[in-house]
Amino acid sequence: MTLALDLDVRSQFPQLVGNPGVAYLDSAATTQKPQAVLDAVTTYLTSENANAARGTYPWANRTTARIEDTRDRVRRFLGDRSPATSGVHFVSGTTAGLRAVALDWLPLVLGDGDEIIVPFADHSANLVPWLDAVELLRRQGTHVVVRPMPYDAAHDYDVARLPIGPRTRLIAATHVHHVYGNDMNVHRLRAAAGPEIPICLDAAQSFGHLPVSVRDLDVDFVVFSGHKAMALPGIGVVWARNQRGPAFAPAGWSGSPNTAGIVSLAAAMDWLSSVGLDRIASWSVSLAARFTAGLAALPGYEVLGCQSSLTAGSTVQRRHGIVTFRHREIGSHDLGFILAADGLLVRADGHCQGSEGEKTSSVRVSLHVYNTAEEVDRLLETLAALDSQGVATTSPRPSC
Ligand code: ALA
Repeated sequence: MTLALDLDVRSQFPQLVGNPGVAYLDSAATTQKPQAVLDAVTTYLTSENANAARGTYPWANRTTARIEDTRDRVRRFLGDRSPATSGVHFVSGTTAGLRAVALDWLPLVLGDGDEIIVPFADHSANLVPWLDAVELLRRQGTHVVVRPMPYDAAHDYDVARLPIGPRTRLIAATHVHHVYGNDMNVHRLRAAAGPEIPICLDAAQSFGHLPVSVRDLDVDFVVFSGHKAMALPGIGVVWARNQRGPAFAPAGWSGSPNTAGIVSLAAAMDWLSSVGLDRIASWSVSLAARFTAGLAALPGYEVLGCQSSLTAGSTVQRRHGIVTFRHREIGSHDLGFILAADGLLVRADGHCQGSEGEKTSSVRVSLHVYNTAEEVDRLLETLAALDSQGVATTSPRPSC
Protein backbone atom coordinates (compact mmCIF):
# COMPACT_ATOMS: atom_id res chain seq x y z
CA MET A 1 0.00 0.00 0.00
CA THR A 2 1.41 3.39 -0.87
CA LEU A 3 0.37 6.37 1.11
CA ALA A 4 1.34 9.96 0.48
CA LEU A 5 0.11 13.30 1.73
CA ASP A 6 -0.62 15.75 -1.06
CA LEU A 7 1.35 18.47 0.67
CA ASP A 8 4.95 19.06 1.73
CA VAL A 9 4.40 19.51 5.44
CA ARG A 10 7.53 18.01 6.89
CA SER A 11 9.87 20.63 5.45
CA GLN A 12 8.04 23.23 7.54
CA PHE A 13 9.23 21.68 10.82
CA PRO A 14 12.84 22.67 11.55
CA GLN A 15 13.38 20.05 14.25
CA LEU A 16 12.30 17.28 11.90
CA VAL A 17 14.36 18.65 9.02
CA GLY A 18 17.39 18.87 11.31
CA ASN A 19 16.98 15.25 12.41
CA PRO A 20 16.19 13.27 9.27
CA GLY A 21 16.96 9.93 10.91
CA VAL A 22 14.46 10.44 13.70
CA ALA A 23 10.79 9.43 13.56
CA TYR A 24 8.91 11.59 16.05
CA LEU A 25 5.96 9.42 17.12
CA ASP A 26 4.92 11.19 20.32
CA SER A 27 2.61 13.98 19.16
CA ALA A 28 -0.01 13.12 21.79
CA ALA A 29 2.56 14.27 24.35
CA THR A 30 3.46 17.41 22.41
CA THR A 31 3.66 18.36 18.76
CA GLN A 32 6.63 19.68 16.87
CA LYS A 33 6.42 23.34 15.89
CA PRO A 34 6.12 24.64 12.33
CA GLN A 35 8.39 27.45 11.16
CA ALA A 36 5.36 29.75 10.81
CA VAL A 37 4.72 29.51 14.57
CA LEU A 38 8.37 30.05 15.45
CA ASP A 39 8.52 33.05 13.11
CA ALA A 40 5.37 34.60 14.56
CA VAL A 41 6.76 34.34 18.09
CA THR A 42 10.19 35.69 17.10
CA THR A 43 8.65 38.58 15.19
CA TYR A 44 6.41 39.45 18.11
CA LEU A 45 9.20 39.24 20.69
CA THR A 46 11.62 41.26 18.56
CA SER A 47 9.26 43.94 17.29
CA GLU A 48 6.38 44.69 19.64
CA ASN A 49 6.77 42.74 22.85
CA ALA A 50 4.91 44.48 25.70
CA ASN A 51 2.46 43.63 28.44
CA ALA A 52 -1.24 43.64 27.59
CA ALA A 53 -4.10 45.76 28.93
CA ARG A 54 -1.80 48.03 30.88
CA GLY A 55 0.06 50.53 28.68
CA THR A 56 -1.09 53.43 26.53
CA TYR A 57 1.63 53.07 23.90
CA PRO A 58 1.32 51.23 20.58
CA TRP A 59 3.19 48.01 21.47
CA ALA A 60 0.98 47.50 24.53
CA ASN A 61 -2.18 48.33 22.60
CA ARG A 62 -1.27 45.99 19.78
CA THR A 63 -0.50 43.21 22.26
CA THR A 64 -3.92 43.72 23.86
CA ALA A 65 -5.55 43.63 20.43
CA ARG A 66 -3.69 40.42 19.53
CA ILE A 67 -5.00 38.74 22.67
CA GLU A 68 -8.58 39.74 21.99
CA ASP A 69 -8.20 38.70 18.38
CA THR A 70 -6.89 35.29 19.48
CA ARG A 71 -9.95 34.81 21.69
CA ASP A 72 -12.13 35.46 18.64
CA ARG A 73 -10.09 33.04 16.56
CA VAL A 74 -10.45 30.33 19.19
CA ARG A 75 -14.22 30.84 19.10
CA ARG A 76 -14.28 30.57 15.31
CA PHE A 77 -11.97 27.55 15.40
CA LEU A 78 -14.44 25.85 17.75
CA GLY A 79 -17.47 26.77 15.64
CA ASP A 80 -18.88 28.92 18.43
CA ARG A 81 -22.07 30.55 17.13
CA SER A 82 -22.77 32.51 20.33
CA PRO A 83 -19.54 34.45 20.84
CA ALA A 84 -21.33 37.20 22.75
CA THR A 85 -22.04 34.88 25.66
CA SER A 86 -19.02 32.57 25.63
CA GLY A 87 -15.67 33.16 27.32
CA VAL A 88 -12.17 32.22 26.14
CA HIS A 89 -9.75 32.09 29.07
CA PHE A 90 -6.04 31.55 28.63
CA VAL A 91 -4.47 29.07 31.02
CA SER A 92 -1.15 27.23 31.00
CA GLY A 93 -2.56 23.99 29.59
CA THR A 94 -5.28 21.36 29.85
CA THR A 95 -4.43 20.26 33.37
CA ALA A 96 -4.52 23.84 34.69
CA GLY A 97 -7.69 24.53 32.71
CA LEU A 98 -9.58 21.52 34.08
CA ARG A 99 -8.41 22.47 37.57
CA ALA A 100 -9.71 25.98 37.07
CA VAL A 101 -13.14 24.70 36.06
CA ALA A 102 -13.13 22.25 38.97
CA LEU A 103 -12.02 24.70 41.64
CA ASP A 104 -13.19 28.11 40.43
CA TRP A 105 -16.54 27.21 38.86
CA LEU A 106 -17.81 23.85 40.05
CA PRO A 107 -18.09 24.76 43.77
CA LEU A 108 -20.43 27.59 42.78
CA VAL A 109 -22.98 25.14 41.40
CA LEU A 110 -22.67 22.31 43.92
CA GLY A 111 -24.79 21.88 47.02
CA ASP A 112 -25.09 19.16 49.63
CA GLY A 113 -26.27 15.92 47.99
CA ASP A 114 -25.47 17.00 44.43
CA GLU A 115 -23.79 14.58 42.05
CA ILE A 116 -21.11 14.73 39.37
CA ILE A 117 -20.11 12.14 36.77
CA VAL A 118 -16.38 11.83 36.12
CA PRO A 119 -14.21 9.46 34.01
CA PHE A 120 -11.97 7.15 36.06
CA ALA A 121 -10.26 5.56 33.05
CA ASP A 122 -9.34 8.71 31.12
CA HIS A 123 -6.34 10.98 31.74
CA SER A 124 -5.87 11.69 35.44
CA ALA A 125 -5.93 15.43 34.63
CA ASN A 126 -9.63 14.89 33.93
CA LEU A 127 -10.23 13.09 37.21
CA VAL A 128 -8.06 14.43 40.02
CA PRO A 129 -9.29 18.06 39.86
CA TRP A 130 -12.93 16.95 40.21
CA LEU A 131 -12.09 14.72 43.16
CA ASP A 132 -10.07 17.53 44.73
CA ALA A 133 -13.03 19.89 44.42
CA VAL A 134 -15.31 17.33 46.06
CA GLU A 135 -12.83 16.84 48.89
CA LEU A 136 -12.51 20.59 49.41
CA LEU A 137 -16.28 20.90 49.66
CA ARG A 138 -16.46 17.91 52.01
CA ARG A 139 -14.08 19.68 54.40
CA GLN A 140 -16.43 22.63 54.32
CA GLY A 141 -19.42 20.44 55.14
CA THR A 142 -20.87 20.00 51.63
CA HIS A 143 -21.14 16.38 50.55
CA VAL A 144 -21.12 15.71 46.82
CA VAL A 145 -21.63 12.26 45.32
CA VAL A 146 -19.09 11.18 42.65
CA ARG A 147 -20.57 8.83 40.04
CA PRO A 148 -18.08 7.01 37.81
CA MET A 149 -18.62 7.45 34.08
CA PRO A 150 -19.59 3.99 32.72
CA TYR A 151 -17.55 2.48 29.86
CA ASP A 152 -18.44 -0.28 27.43
CA ALA A 153 -16.16 -3.07 26.18
CA ALA A 154 -14.83 -0.77 23.45
CA HIS A 155 -13.74 1.82 26.04
CA ASP A 156 -16.45 4.16 24.78
CA TYR A 157 -18.70 5.86 27.26
CA ASP A 158 -21.72 3.63 27.84
CA VAL A 159 -24.35 6.33 27.54
CA ALA A 160 -27.18 3.85 28.11
CA ARG A 161 -25.84 3.42 31.66
CA LEU A 162 -25.04 7.09 32.29
CA PRO A 163 -25.94 7.58 35.97
CA ILE A 164 -27.97 10.75 35.41
CA GLY A 165 -30.23 11.81 38.24
CA PRO A 166 -32.12 14.91 39.33
CA ARG A 167 -29.07 16.06 41.31
CA THR A 168 -26.47 15.64 38.53
CA ARG A 169 -24.64 18.95 38.15
CA LEU A 170 -21.72 18.11 35.85
CA ILE A 171 -20.45 15.51 33.40
CA ALA A 172 -16.71 15.48 32.76
CA ALA A 173 -15.74 13.80 29.49
CA THR A 174 -12.86 13.36 27.06
CA HIS A 175 -13.05 13.87 23.31
CA VAL A 176 -10.30 11.47 22.16
CA HIS A 177 -8.81 8.95 24.57
CA HIS A 178 -5.08 9.51 25.10
CA VAL A 179 -4.29 5.78 25.40
CA TYR A 180 -6.77 3.98 23.11
CA GLY A 181 -7.03 6.76 20.56
CA ASN A 182 -10.76 6.36 20.21
CA ASP A 183 -13.28 9.10 19.77
CA MET A 184 -15.40 8.86 22.92
CA ASN A 185 -18.55 9.73 20.95
CA VAL A 186 -19.18 12.68 23.18
CA HIS A 187 -21.91 13.94 20.85
CA ARG A 188 -24.16 11.26 22.40
CA LEU A 189 -23.83 12.67 25.90
CA ARG A 190 -26.10 15.68 25.42
CA ALA A 191 -29.03 13.55 24.25
CA ALA A 192 -28.51 11.20 27.18
CA ALA A 193 -28.00 13.98 29.73
CA GLY A 194 -30.82 16.30 28.67
CA PRO A 195 -30.58 20.04 28.03
CA GLU A 196 -29.61 21.33 31.48
CA ILE A 197 -26.51 19.49 32.71
CA PRO A 198 -23.15 21.17 32.00
CA ILE A 199 -20.62 18.99 30.17
CA CYS A 200 -16.90 19.73 30.43
CA LEU A 201 -14.76 18.35 27.61
CA ASP A 202 -11.05 17.54 27.75
CA ALA A 203 -10.03 18.21 24.15
CA ALA A 204 -6.28 17.78 24.73
CA GLN A 205 -6.03 15.02 22.12
CA SER A 206 -8.49 16.43 19.62
CA PHE A 207 -7.86 20.18 19.34
CA GLY A 208 -5.44 20.62 16.45
CA HIS A 209 -5.81 16.99 15.41
CA LEU A 210 -9.37 16.99 14.09
CA PRO A 211 -12.26 19.45 13.88
CA VAL A 212 -13.74 20.21 17.32
CA SER A 213 -17.17 21.84 17.12
CA VAL A 214 -18.94 23.11 20.21
CA ARG A 215 -22.05 23.32 18.06
CA ASP A 216 -22.03 19.62 17.19
CA LEU A 217 -20.85 18.40 20.59
CA ASP A 218 -23.11 20.74 22.58
CA VAL A 219 -20.74 20.90 25.55
CA ASP A 220 -20.25 23.76 28.01
CA PHE A 221 -16.50 23.79 28.51
CA VAL A 222 -13.76 22.85 26.08
CA VAL A 223 -10.26 22.69 27.56
CA PHE A 224 -7.08 22.16 25.56
CA SER A 225 -3.32 22.76 25.45
CA GLY A 226 -1.60 24.80 22.76
CA HIS A 227 1.56 22.71 22.83
CA LYS A 228 -0.29 19.62 21.57
CA ALA A 229 -1.59 21.73 18.66
CA MET A 230 1.61 23.19 17.18
CA ALA A 231 1.81 26.17 19.61
CA LEU A 232 4.32 26.79 22.41
CA PRO A 233 4.20 25.05 25.79
CA GLY A 234 2.59 27.05 28.58
CA ILE A 235 -0.52 28.23 26.77
CA GLY A 236 -3.92 26.57 26.90
CA VAL A 237 -7.57 27.53 26.76
CA VAL A 238 -10.79 27.09 28.65
CA TRP A 239 -13.69 27.92 26.36
CA ALA A 240 -16.88 28.35 28.41
CA ARG A 241 -20.38 28.53 26.97
CA ASN A 242 -21.69 30.34 30.10
CA GLN A 243 -25.31 29.39 29.49
CA ARG A 244 -25.81 26.56 31.95
CA GLY A 245 -24.83 27.86 35.37
CA PRO A 246 -22.80 30.90 36.39
CA ALA A 247 -20.29 32.43 33.98
CA PHE A 248 -16.84 30.92 34.37
CA ALA A 249 -14.42 33.49 35.83
CA PRO A 250 -11.19 31.82 36.90
CA ALA A 251 -9.43 33.15 39.96
CA GLY A 252 -5.94 34.42 39.24
CA TRP A 253 -6.93 35.70 35.82
CA SER A 254 -5.57 39.15 36.65
CA GLY A 255 -1.85 38.36 36.18
CA SER A 256 0.23 39.20 33.13
CA PRO A 257 -0.85 36.95 30.26
CA ASN A 258 1.48 34.61 28.39
CA THR A 259 1.63 36.92 25.41
CA ALA A 260 4.20 34.93 23.41
CA GLY A 261 2.18 31.78 24.02
CA ILE A 262 -0.99 33.48 22.83
CA VAL A 263 0.80 34.73 19.70
CA SER A 264 1.98 31.18 19.08
CA LEU A 265 -1.55 29.83 19.48
CA ALA A 266 -2.93 32.29 16.91
CA ALA A 267 -0.18 31.33 14.47
CA ALA A 268 -0.76 27.64 15.15
CA MET A 269 -4.49 27.94 14.39
CA ASP A 270 -3.63 29.77 11.15
CA TRP A 271 -1.22 27.01 10.21
CA LEU A 272 -3.67 24.23 11.08
CA SER A 273 -6.40 25.96 9.06
CA SER A 274 -4.10 26.37 6.08
CA VAL A 275 -3.41 22.62 6.05
CA GLY A 276 -6.99 21.72 6.96
CA LEU A 277 -8.11 19.80 10.02
CA ASP A 278 -9.99 17.23 7.96
CA ARG A 279 -6.85 16.50 5.99
CA ILE A 280 -4.75 16.32 9.16
CA ALA A 281 -7.23 13.93 10.78
CA SER A 282 -7.56 11.63 7.80
CA TRP A 283 -3.78 11.45 7.32
CA SER A 284 -3.16 10.55 10.98
CA VAL A 285 -5.95 7.98 10.88
CA SER A 286 -4.58 6.40 7.71
CA LEU A 287 -1.11 6.10 9.27
CA ALA A 288 -2.60 4.62 12.45
CA ALA A 289 -4.55 2.09 10.36
CA ARG A 290 -1.36 1.15 8.49
CA PHE A 291 0.43 0.68 11.78
CA THR A 292 -2.28 -1.39 13.45
CA ALA A 293 -2.68 -3.58 10.37
CA GLY A 294 1.06 -4.29 10.49
CA LEU A 295 1.08 -4.87 14.22
CA ALA A 296 -1.86 -7.28 13.98
CA ALA A 297 0.40 -9.60 11.98
CA LEU A 298 2.94 -9.75 14.82
CA PRO A 299 1.75 -12.20 17.49
CA GLY A 300 4.21 -10.94 20.08
CA TYR A 301 2.23 -7.75 20.54
CA GLU A 302 -1.05 -6.86 22.17
CA VAL A 303 -2.78 -3.71 20.97
CA LEU A 304 -4.83 -1.98 23.65
CA GLY A 305 -8.39 -0.93 23.01
CA CYS A 306 -11.18 -2.25 20.87
CA GLN A 307 -9.71 -4.87 18.55
CA SER A 308 -12.54 -4.81 16.04
CA SER A 309 -11.95 -1.12 15.45
CA LEU A 310 -8.34 -1.52 14.43
CA THR A 311 -8.85 -2.47 10.81
CA ALA A 312 -8.83 0.28 8.22
CA GLY A 313 -12.34 1.53 7.51
CA SER A 314 -13.80 -0.07 10.63
CA THR A 315 -17.25 1.17 11.49
CA VAL A 316 -17.06 -0.25 15.00
CA GLN A 317 -15.42 2.76 16.52
CA ARG A 318 -13.71 5.88 15.23
CA ARG A 319 -10.00 5.83 16.05
CA HIS A 320 -7.60 8.72 15.66
CA GLY A 321 -3.82 8.83 15.37
CA ILE A 322 -2.98 7.06 18.64
CA VAL A 323 -2.08 3.36 18.93
CA THR A 324 -0.92 1.82 22.21
CA PHE A 325 0.49 -1.65 22.60
CA ARG A 326 2.62 -4.01 24.67
CA HIS A 327 5.15 -6.64 23.78
CA ARG A 328 4.18 -9.86 25.53
CA GLU A 329 7.67 -10.39 26.90
CA ILE A 330 9.71 -7.21 26.66
CA GLY A 331 8.80 -4.57 29.24
CA SER A 332 7.40 -1.36 27.79
CA HIS A 333 10.12 0.87 29.23
CA ASP A 334 12.77 -1.39 27.72
CA LEU A 335 10.93 -1.34 24.43
CA GLY A 336 10.86 2.45 24.56
CA PHE A 337 14.64 2.54 24.99
CA ILE A 338 15.17 0.00 22.20
CA LEU A 339 13.00 2.00 19.81
CA ALA A 340 14.68 5.28 20.76
CA ALA A 341 18.06 3.75 19.95
CA ASP A 342 16.70 3.29 16.41
CA GLY A 343 15.47 6.88 16.28
CA LEU A 344 11.84 5.86 16.87
CA LEU A 345 10.51 8.22 19.54
CA VAL A 346 7.45 6.92 21.37
CA ARG A 347 5.99 7.27 24.85
CA ALA A 348 6.46 4.26 27.12
CA ASP A 349 4.87 4.29 30.59
CA GLY A 350 1.45 4.26 32.23
CA HIS A 351 0.37 7.40 30.34
CA CYS A 352 -1.09 9.12 33.45
CA GLN A 353 -4.33 7.18 33.09
CA GLY A 354 -6.89 7.53 35.90
CA SER A 355 -7.32 4.97 38.68
CA GLU A 356 -9.47 2.61 36.56
CA GLY A 357 -6.97 2.62 33.71
CA GLU A 358 -4.52 0.00 32.48
CA LYS A 359 -2.51 -1.56 35.28
CA THR A 360 0.58 -2.34 33.20
CA SER A 361 2.67 0.15 31.27
CA SER A 362 2.57 0.22 27.50
CA VAL A 363 4.07 1.88 24.44
CA ARG A 364 2.13 4.62 22.72
CA VAL A 365 2.64 5.69 19.12
CA SER A 366 0.94 8.97 18.29
CA LEU A 367 0.92 10.35 14.78
CA HIS A 368 0.43 13.73 13.20
CA VAL A 369 0.40 15.33 9.82
CA TYR A 370 4.22 15.46 9.55
CA ASN A 371 4.63 11.71 9.97
CA THR A 372 5.15 9.50 6.95
CA ALA A 373 4.25 5.99 5.84
CA GLU A 374 7.99 5.25 5.69
CA GLU A 375 8.32 6.05 9.38
CA VAL A 376 5.47 3.70 10.22
CA ASP A 377 7.05 0.97 8.12
CA ARG A 378 10.42 1.51 9.82
CA LEU A 379 8.76 1.16 13.21
CA LEU A 380 7.02 -2.03 12.09
CA GLU A 381 10.30 -3.48 10.83
CA THR A 382 11.98 -2.89 14.18
CA LEU A 383 8.99 -4.33 16.04
CA ALA A 384 8.94 -7.34 13.71
CA ALA A 385 12.60 -8.02 14.49
CA LEU A 386 11.68 -8.13 18.19
CA ASP A 387 8.51 -10.12 17.61
CA SER A 388 10.12 -13.54 17.84
CA GLN A 389 11.03 -12.74 21.43
CA GLY A 390 7.33 -12.65 22.21
CA VAL A 391 5.04 -15.57 22.90
CA ALA A 392 2.28 -16.26 20.42
CA THR A 393 -1.07 -15.85 22.08
CA THR A 394 -3.57 -18.68 22.02
CA SER A 395 -6.30 -16.85 23.86
CA PRO A 396 -8.67 -14.79 21.72
CA ARG A 397 -8.28 -11.06 21.94
CA PRO A 398 -11.25 -9.37 23.56
CA SER A 399 -13.88 -8.22 21.10
CA CYS A 400 -16.26 -5.33 21.31
N1 ALA B 1 -1.05 14.39 28.49
C1 ALA B 1 0.04 14.17 27.62
C2 ALA B 1 0.08 12.75 27.13
O1 ALA B 1 -0.92 12.07 27.10
C3 ALA B 1 1.34 14.58 28.21
O2 ALA B 1 1.15 12.30 26.77
